[in-house]
Amino acid sequence: MNDSIQVISKFALQGLETQALRDAAMAAKQTLESGSGAGNDFLGWLHLPSSIDEQQLQAIEESAAQLRSECEYVISIGIGGSYLGGKAVIEALSNHFAAYRTDGGPKVLFAGSNIGEDYLYDMMDLVRGHKFGIIVISKSGTTTEPAIAFRLFKEMLEQQEGKEFASRNIIAITDARRGALRRLAIEEGYATFVIPDDVGGRFSVLTPVGLLPIAVAGFDIRALVKGAVEMEQGGEEQVLDYAIARNALYQQGKKIEILANFTPRLHFLAEWWKQLYGESEGKNHKGIFPASVDFTTDLHSMGQWIQDGERTIFETVLSVGDQQHEVIIPNDDADLDGLNYIAGKNVDYVNKMAELGTRLAHIDGGVPNLLITIPAVTERYLGQLIYFFEKACGVSGYILGVNPFDQPGVEAYKKNMFALLEKPGHEEATAQMKIRLKQ
Ligand code: PA5
Repeated sequence: MNDSIQVISKFALQGLETQALRDAAMAAKQTLESGSGAGNDFLGWLHLPSSIDEQQLQAIEESAAQLRSECEYVISIGIGGSYLGGKAVIEALSNHFAAYRTDGGPKVLFAGSNIGEDYLYDMMDLVRGHKFGIIVISKSGTTTEPAIAFRLFKEMLEQQEGKEFASRNIIAITDARRGALRRLAIEEGYATFVIPDDVGGRFSVLTPVGLLPIAVAGFDIRALVKGAVEMEQGGEEQVLDYAIARNALYQQGKKIEILANFTPRLHFLAEWWKQLYGESEGKNHKGIFPASVDFTTDLHSMGQWIQDGERTIFETVLSVGDQQHEVIIPNDDADLDGLNYIAGKNVDYVNKMAELGTRLAHIDGGVPNLLITIPAVTERYLGQLIYFFEKACGVSGYILGVNPFDQPGVEAYKKNMFALLEKPGHEEATAQMKIRLKQ
């Protein structure tokens, strides 16, 4: 077994990579590493893995141990970059039918990533009468979705368990100095962790934003960080290969990248990846649209489009070497389902043949195919994958000619929502909105 993720792009890239693109990628990497490009005040993630020290890891582990010792549930509240990294890693490592490791620790639930009234009601119903803790994560401290969820669960926890239990089991992760959440944490005496100024939300999974929920769920954050350090120090070729491949394809009119997995536990890793690439590259009316599918499930829904629809897509397959468990397909004397030809094989063998068959079919159908292999879904390899995708995203964004580290476009819906909600300070926008809606 390899001890690193591998990026293999030979099917797609034969004859595709140009010297000009390799030069552009080298220049983009240099711009990133020298900190001379757009958004260079948000490069704190670049050497983050190797800068995490023993003291920081211990502080996170101690807070996780506190929550694990007193809580049956821990609600991690946050949205976007303050949510998806932790969710992705926990889902990738957990038992599929319980968002936690089967070691008796608390279940980690996620709130504040939507404004679903029934979602919040159901979660309140679930934790009512149970001891629970809260990790509230917001860099700005003012984001509406997590603020609503935090107000609800804070009040519920204080009423249910008392103020003392609540302030012991609420942990805030926010900006070092600014914001409503920082002020509240100081007033209420919550333990806090800092989101560094120079690390944007979607690059923050290896800060306490991701590491604390992951540690609460019982997973090994040291191994995760170790994997990321390995990529930080040795992933250069992989990063360049991927960045070049996707930009070469984009320049040839492949505007959509579909991240495909054949491993159900990777669903949320793709959600995290979509935010990373979508928010980083979709600017100035440019950028590859990041989409994702879960195979073989989606072969029975999206498979037709991918095989035969408009030829503007390419596919990046996340292929996993080893499963954690073996399940053998049994023999059946009657063989009414005709499956005896694979009796005695393990389920993953069939899945691997589906994967290879799909990749070849899609290549034949005009869908270029990149392949990223992960030896197994473990903390270490997830750490490698996370850092690999982050760095490739920075390089890729600079090749494209955008600032990969801002997200001005996400403000537009907020302005409208605040106008419609008649938030103080938005009076003029509210008046304009009323005129617009009458037309
Ligand atoms: O990547 C980003 O910057 C965003 O997704 C933010 O993380 C998200 O909007 C949440 O912001 P905040 O942490 O300030 O609540």
